[in-house]
Amino acid sequence: MSMFRNIVFVLCLVSAVRPYNIVLTNDDGWATASIRGQYAALTNAGYNGYNASDTRLNYVNSYPVDAVRYGIQTLAPQFFSGSPDFVVSGPNIGSTNLFPSLLSFSRLTSALQPDNLGTGIDGSGTVGAACEAAKEGIPSTAFSGDSGSQVSYTTLASSPDSSSSVAARVYGALTAHFAGVLLAGGAPVLPSGVTLNVNYPAVDSCGAAADYSWVFSRLVQDASAVDVETCGSTVLPYEEEVVGTSGCYASVTVINATSKTDVDAATQSAVLGRLGNLPLSCLSS
Ligand SMILES: *[C@@H]1O[C@H](CO)[C@@H](O)[C@H](O)[C@H]1NC(C)=O
Ligand SMILES: *[C@@H]1O[C@H](CO)[C@@H](O)[C@H](O)[C@H]1NC(C)=O
Repeated sequence: MSMFRNIVFVLCLVSAVRPYNIVLTNDDGWATASIRGQYAALTNAGYNGYNASDTRLNYVNSYPVDAVRYGIQTLAPQFFSGSPDFVVSGPNIGSTNLFPSLLSFSRLTSALQPDNLGTGIDGSGTVGAACEAAKEGIPSTAFSGDSGSQVSYTTLASSPDSSSSVAARVYGALTAHFAGVLLAGGAPVLPSGVTLNVNYPAVDSCGAAADYSWVFSRLVQDASAVDVETCGSTVLPYEEEVVGTSGCYASVTVINATSKTDVDAATQSAVLGRLGNLPLSCLSS
């Protein structure tokens, strides 16, 4: 989302998740429960405990793309003595972003959906940051979830059962798992020039990470597409279809980091092969 981008402080956080070095960034600001929940999930998986005076938390008062660039070019050399292995962008919060000054008809139609689905990604700072990382040669994924709002990270402790806290924990755990599976296959993590777009459904009836299934998807609906063959079809389900199907399905789409569009079947196939251990599922009809 980017409606607040001129005033929001963008968090750029560097976390050493053993054995991988990860830059974590978002475009909802440094103080949100979502980014802190994600940091906790990654550090729990990778051992660098959260610490309020942690120097690995940095914010950049600029666009998300500038924040991730700062993380890759300035912070990573300081903390890792080199490039990060992976960039986690998000999880982006919620579904209420209306892009008031940029609203086009296609965005209006998707405004009731999480804004990083389908054509909505054009205005997304979260996806933009992931694309910027890919263009700098760093494998990356953009994550967005339907639940939660931009509440303070203190909500995690003060209202642990609130929807924002549950979303921060559940999406954080799912994202840490996803990154672990993707990185476990070794380099190259992703084909060059692409990034991934992951969308999580609402936590209302999907309140634990174990409830979720991962579905390989395409960005926009296209019945005439010839995608990689999976689940008995050469037309992948589209993102809004995946997260809109009851049953706690998370969509995983390969996108071209330059054009922010769907990629060809061969490129999809290369990524599909990396994600088998998520495990991937078929969308129930
Ligand atoms: C947080 O980090 C600072 C600086 O490294 C350290 O002095 C302090 O003990 C840490 N606090 C906790 C709770 O670990
Ligand atoms: C991405 O799209 C550009 C055109 O905008 C194209 O030149 C490039 O080959 C595409 N890359 C991939 C990996 O699909």
